[in-house]
Amino acid sequence: MSINSKNPKNFSRLENILIIGNGGRENSLAWVIQKNVLVKKVYLIPGNGGSERINKCERINIDINNKDQLVEKLDLLKVDLIVIGPEIPLANGLADFLRQKNFKVFGPGKDGAKLEYSKSWAKEFMQGANIPTAKFWKVNSLEKAKKVILSSSIPLVVKADGLASGKGVFIPDTKDECLKAAELIFNGKFGKSGNVVVLEEKIQGPEVSVFALCDGKKYILLPTAQDHKRLNDNDKGPNTGGMGAYSPAPLLTEDHIDTIVKEIIEPTINELNKKNIDYRGVIYFGLMITKSGPKVIEYNCRFGDPECQTIMPLLDQNFVSLLEKCSMGKLTGEEKIDIPDKVSGCVIATSKGYPQEYATGFPIKIGKIDSTDCQIFDSGTCFNENGELLTDGGRVLSIVCQDKNFDLVFDKAYKNLNKINFDGIYFRNDIGHQVRKSFSKGK
Ligand code: AMP
Ligand code: GLY
Repeated sequence: MSINSKNPKNFSRLENILIIGNGGRENSLAWVIQKNVLVKKVYLIPGNGGSERINKCERINIDINNKDQLVEKLDLLKVDLIVIGPEIPLANGLADFLRQKNFKVFGPGKDGAKLEYSKSWAKEFMQGANIPTAKFWKVNSLEKAKKVILSSSIPLVVKADGLASGKGVFIPDTKDECLKAAELIFNGKFGKSGNVVVLEEKIQGPEVSVFALCDGKKYILLPTAQDHKRLNDNDKGPNTGGMGAYSPAPLLTEDHIDTIVKEIIEPTINELNKKNIDYRGVIYFGLMITKSGPKVIEYNCRFGDPECQTIMPLLDQNFVSLLEKCSMGKLTGEEKIDIPDKVSGCVIATSKGYPQEYATGFPIKIGKIDSTDCQIFDSGTCFNENGELLTDGGRVLSIVCQDKNFDLVFDKAYKNLNKINFDGIYFRNDIGHQVRKSFSKGK
């Protein structure tokens, strides 16, 4: 969509910031945003049990789908910049709506969010721009899926086209499992999100997350990160939203980054422009570094979780100005993100049973933690009527630390984690195993 050039809010002011979302990602955004001296208040809709532990933060209890009430409230609070965290409101066009109401918004419109909410669209987009990615077949019936699967000479991955809370991707080992996955999706496991299925060539290599803040034309890169998708140690078990992360990802060499910029990031932004998509937000490139070079596994239209919690503590008070510049189409592309001489790591504490069924409502006990360069960002918590902090999600807490090297980072994170408890607490013990010198495999 075109942004109103007579926008009355087309001037810089950063006193009141609103963040939409309720996870650890949004709390970490609030944490870095409040560092800016110009910022007086950070509102979160709805936030969670940990949001108000963060300086200057206040939760607002309002339904974002009640548009009239939302706009009235934002006017009342004199909100200067809105940051939309999760993909669902972006896919539903919330950024478009708020921009039409003349708010400055960091987050793409519905057109840009399609990079995430339709995997087949994203694949065709990449094909059109010659962006390296796995080969794919888009099918709209089980019959057609069967044909591709049975005639394929290469191993395939099966994906529901639409949003499926990170659960719509199957990595089968056999053709039989492949067929079962396609059947499950076409039988309605993900509702309308499974009306179309994408079958993809299974590719191999380590995965990295790269984030570009984009103002529609220009972009700047954040420090890279590596997520840990599998539930259990040694990268075993089912896929999750992410069990921990570290940043930067030393696996990416300068050469890799040059290639990623030339072959992936710039062609993506050029293609968005070609399609008249004015993308003002973050583009999350989920990449696999294969033997034949980096390839895009997926695009997301938001920050990664837990990558965001991991990266934000490496950034300074200028970060919020960058978000604002993106929202206004005013990046120069020359902005520098000064990173301290530190690295960062995050371990997620989850509820027993996650990513499948899990119970909530267990009291959380946090002992005396080392708070030097350590943050605890609540991912899924709430309070009961006595003001007790309770578990309220599959991913409960993000324990994040920074230090001179990854061994120190994760020693500190795990020491802190051992002072935290709730019924059924579960976490991986090997987050950062790729970068911890002292880590012995199988420990
Ligand atoms: P996604 O939700 O698209 O990020 O996929 C979840 C995970 O599935 C990714 O992080 C990869 O580990 C894996 N995956 C997705 N697509 C492929 C592919 N084409 N080949 C191999 N693994 C894949
Ligand atoms: N950490 C993966 C994601 O946010 O999708």
